[in-house]
Amino acid sequence: MQISNILGKDAFRNRKVLVRVDFNVPTENGAVQDSSRIKNARSTIEFLKDSGAKIILISHFGKTTNHNPDQSLKNVIDTVAAEYKSRIVFIEDCLAENAAAIIDASPIGDIILLENLRFYPGEEDCNIDFAKRLAMLADFYINEAFSVAHRKHASIFALPQLLPHAPGLSFRKEVQTIDNFFADNSSPKMCIVGGAKLSTKVNLLKNLVKKVNKLAVGGGIAGVFSAVLGKHPLNIFNAEEYRQNVIEIMENAKRHNCELILPVDFSALVCKEKCESEIFSSENSGAKIFDIGPNSVELFKHHVRESKMLLWNGPVGLFEKAPFDFGTASIAKEVAQLTIDGKLTSVIGGGDTAFAMNKFNVAQDMSYISTAGGAFLSYLENSDLPGISAMKNASVLEN
Ligand code: 3PG
Repeated sequence: MQISNILGKDAFRNRKVLVRVDFNVPTENGAVQDSSRIKNARSTIEFLKDSGAKIILISHFGKTTNHNPDQSLKNVIDTVAAEYKSRIVFIEDCLAENAAAIIDASPIGDIILLENLRFYPGEEDCNIDFAKRLAMLADFYINEAFSVAHRKHASIFALPQLLPHAPGLSFRKEVQTIDNFFADNSSPKMCIVGGAKLSTKVNLLKNLVKKVNKLAVGGGIAGVFSAVLGKHPLNIFNAEEYRQNVIEIMENAKRHNCELILPVDFSALVCKEKCESEIFSSENSGAKIFDIGPNSVELFKHHVRESKMLLWNGPVGLFEKAPFDFGTASIAKEVAQLTIDGKLTSVIGGGDTAFAMNKFNVAQDMSYISTAGGAFLSYLENSDLPGISAMKNASVLEN
């Protein structure tokens, strides 16, 4: 992101500011289940409220392009109003003739929220005319949706090319935190990468082995490593498909002096008369694994204790279901304690991983937790995200 100047609160008095937020939050029967993403934008909203700006929020919600009422942003109005302590003016059609007039007539202090941008095909098509219609509603654009920065959509990629712009305070912090993790010379620097499918993490692993001293692999992807190494029957996983990638990751790790840490045992579900969990060594398991085993947990914790910085993406097991939460919970508690003791800087990212930290009640103890899923992963793979590259000559908000 090229930064051109610094803007204090005075710069926004009476200006109309479009803020791209990510209100893609989980809901059940229309009620918001987790408002972390709404909270995440609060510092920027407060900055703008204090500055006397007119705030216009834009977001997507779900993947739909149909006007599905379940994915209307009407569902989040009450939560947004409570979090930002403001009255919300909802505009059902951002392309309507009177949208600009409604915005002009709303008093400063009210927050305007436009309907789900993905109800309009122009959003995902990154249609410039659609972006121009949105741009006409405001004088300035702020992207406070790092979690969507990997999407080349109109509200992410086209809008900053049409309006003077800045990253939101949380957006900037997220980018700086990840950048600092890699720029910091403290060592050893460790990553834990888990998750169910290796296919989603191949590029990440290839990139990380060049940048960190230790890389521990858990979750289903560790099973694939195990299988390729001949330690787990190949018919359990589609391991052959990944043989080349696994070999490449291991060779790159060696070349870049990155210590690759693989589980030495697994916890699996075995169904005879009834289904029970059993522990297998990584050498002889034929069962379907759902977690790393107790010896692996100790091994991972030992390496975490030796490290100064840790970046963790992906749970090491099926943390939603006991007893397969053991690995993720035990490591999370160790990481939290080391962070509290000032011995470790811990950066946690990815939707499931953040959710797991909340579940085990350690989220507040970590140095940084990202609310982004796919964008966090994409940024670790390749720092050139559309939402960042589009912000040329960006301003910086000074709180
Ligand atoms: C997310 O939930 O990761 C972001 O809101 C992006 O959503 P998307 O994957 O539907 O683009």
